[in-house]
Amino acid sequence: MIIFGEEKPMYEPGSGRPHIVGIGGTTRSASSSEAALRMCLRLAEKLGASTAAFVGADLAKLPMYNPGVAERGEVGAKLAAELRRADGVVIASAGYHGGVSGLVKNAIDYLEDLREDQRPYLQGMPVGLIATGAGWQGAVMTLSQLRTIVHALRGWPTPMGAVINSAEVSFDRDFCTDDAQVAFQLETIACDLVGFGSKVTCMAGLGSEGAGQ
Ligand SMILES: Cc1cc2nc3c(=O)[nH]c(=O)nc-3n(C[C@H](O)[C@H](O)[C@H](O)COP(=O)(O)O)c2cc1C
Repeated sequence: MIIFGEEKPMYEPGSGRPHIVGIGGTTRSASSSEAALRMCLRLAEKLGASTAAFVGADLAKLPMYNPGVAERGEVGAKLAAELRRADGVVIASAGYHGGVSGLVKNAIDYLEDLREDQRPYLQGMPVGLIATGAGWQGAVMTLSQLRTIVHALRGWPTPMGAVINSAEVSFDRDFCTDDAQVAFQLETIACDLVGFGSKVTCMAGLGSEGAGQ
């Protein structure tokens, strides 16, 4: 069983620590993509980040994104609010028929509501990506699609993405896995999110004074 290492917080709580928002999972109980997302977020917390998670049960409450209406409902409004204050994002999708699941893509579409923001979409933010599949091919294709989507939204996919073959890897009820390779991937993503995310926090703090420097 891999228990998280002896990570030392990169930031003292309350000292402008980065906020990481996780989106993903499926509506399946014991969803592997949700477990991987939660493990990654917990690692980020151990490194000093604050986190928020939108998992399958939350995403299922989101109506199909409709650009023509302003009302977003409780989960949609909370999702937008969390993304607006995020310093980093992590997205986890199951591979459905060779690509990103509709549930997760619909949640991503809600980023359209941030289009007119001072920081539109995912601009400048590190984005960790996790893809699961019942085999390697579907998971790898899904990771590749997630990277393309994040580029379109002006985000920065972290160099390490996690690809998880759920036919071979399992998570326990505490969202831990004894698969060393998966643990390494998720730890590396968490480190990059917190490391780069703190720089986003830092730049946000510069305001207009630092903008020209
Ligand atoms: C509708 C559907 C389509 C799927 N399509 C694929 C696929 O194309 N390739 C693949 O490797 N696995 C596919 N799977 C399997 C899931 O990707 C795999 O079981 C994944 O781990 C499910 O994520 P979860 O554990 O978070 O529910 C599919 C599963 C479902 C329900």
